Amino acid sequence: MASLFDFNNGAIELLDPGAGVGSLTAAFAHAAHGRSIHATCHEIDPQYHPALRETLRGLDNVEPDVRQGDFIEAAVCDAQTSHHARYTHVIANPPYRKIATDSRERRLAAKLGLQTSNLYTAFLAGAIAQCAHGAQVVVIVPRSFMNGPYFKAFRYWLLDRVALARIHLFDRRDKAFAEDKVLQENVILKVIVGARQGDVVVSSSADDRFTDLRLHCVPFSAIVTPGDDELFIHVPSAQGERAGSLEGHTLRQLEIDVCTGPVVDFRLREHLRQEPQQDSVPLLYASHFHGGFAWPRDGRKPNAIAVNPQTRPWLMPNGCYVVTRRFTSKEEKRRIVAHVLPADALPYALVGFENHLNVFHQDRHGLPQRLAHGLCAYLNSQRVDDYFRTFSGHTQVNATDLRRLKYPSLAELEALADA
Ligand SMILES: C[S@@+](CC[C@H](N)C(=O)[O-])C[C@H]1O[C@@H](n2cnc3c(N)ncnc32)[C@H](O)[C@@H]1O
Repeated sequence: MASLFDFNNGAIELLDPGAGVGSLTAAFAHAAHGRSIHATCHEIDPQYHPALRETLRGLDNVEPDVRQGDFIEAAVCDAQTSHHARYTHVIANPPYRKIATDSRERRLAAKLGLQTSNLYTAFLAGAIAQCAHGAQVVVIVPRSFMNGPYFKAFRYWLLDRVALARIHLFDRRDKAFAEDKVLQENVILKVIVGARQGDVVVSSSADDRFTDLRLHCVPFSAIVTPGDDELFIHVPSAQGERAGSLEGHTLRQLEIDVCTGPVVDFRLREHLRQEPQQDSVPLLYASHFHGGFAWPRDGRKPNAIAVNPQTRPWLMPNGCYVVTRRFTSKEEKRRIVAHVLPADALPYALVGFENHLNVFHQDRHGLPQRLAHGLCAYLNSQRVDDYFRTFSGHTQVNATDLRRLKYPSLAELEALADA
């Protein structure tokens, strides 16, 4: 991270928010090759302070300013009182944790003009708010902000204020931070405050040893699709370059749609049935598709749902559907796992799909059988998986993500069914 900074002869005002024992400031100080640095290190946890001071004492070129207390609060205070944003460099590995809607941190972040649900984005906003024009900010953060629906406000906030200069991805999340048991997918990001957006350098490595570093430069339009009002941040990795060109038709052009399984089970709890009964129809969970479709199944999940005026709006006509799981486990090889519900699998007029599934349908009815099998094969292909990884760090696949994909023509999909 420290090696990503460019140094000139100007004064260096460094910020390290959530400094821990000061490892990042120390790395920065070494990379600065003797240039003198004024470093402000915020750390809330007093137990780190002795070691932090010790680290800073060992850095000849650093004039330290250690702040004990809440960084977000300090950032808000600074943004409200100080008239000149002063930091020229930020290096950070901020804390990651959800912040509740009514929490103090949320209210503080709102004072920086940001609605956010995670501490790391609040940290980033707090840091950037205190930066001078042209400041370089290098951080390691979860990848979740790049496409998560909850981070849309943050993407707007961020891309309004900075230019993306560098994005580094780790291919294997289990290897990158194996010692810390970090399973979050992390990225290293370098942004320049107030700069005009140009091309972005994208790099990747298998793990945190960077021995196989691969770099390429891509236009910003390959990162954020022009006109995308979600401002999703795609990262075309070496793998993804091949898939970055995924072309074809939108689902709408194919007259296919995809929705989230309409049955939210906890809202319809009183209508769920462990076993099929006379007044009920099948209720399908991801578990019914595991290792091949089977219904009913023994297990914790109910197999059926009563048909009555309260449940009827959430049920679909029985037919041939393609379903994908919305949540795959971290260990799963593919992000998109698709299955076909054959038209003749269930002797019922209606069927319920539970909310953890996405359901491909045509006007809320099933698909022709060959088309369904071709669509399923396409969704399970390596090509789709590679493409999906370029814009999602999540193990979650929502209907909106599936609508954003491009698909082969109907004829090509049908041909895939025979392949
Ligand atoms: C992920 S650790 C990173 C530590 C260090 N920068 C590193 O990379 O080794 C985040 C640090 O932020 C500190 N922290 C958490 N919340 C904070 C807050 N509100 N204000 C200041 N520091 C905070 C934690 O105590 C922790 O040391």
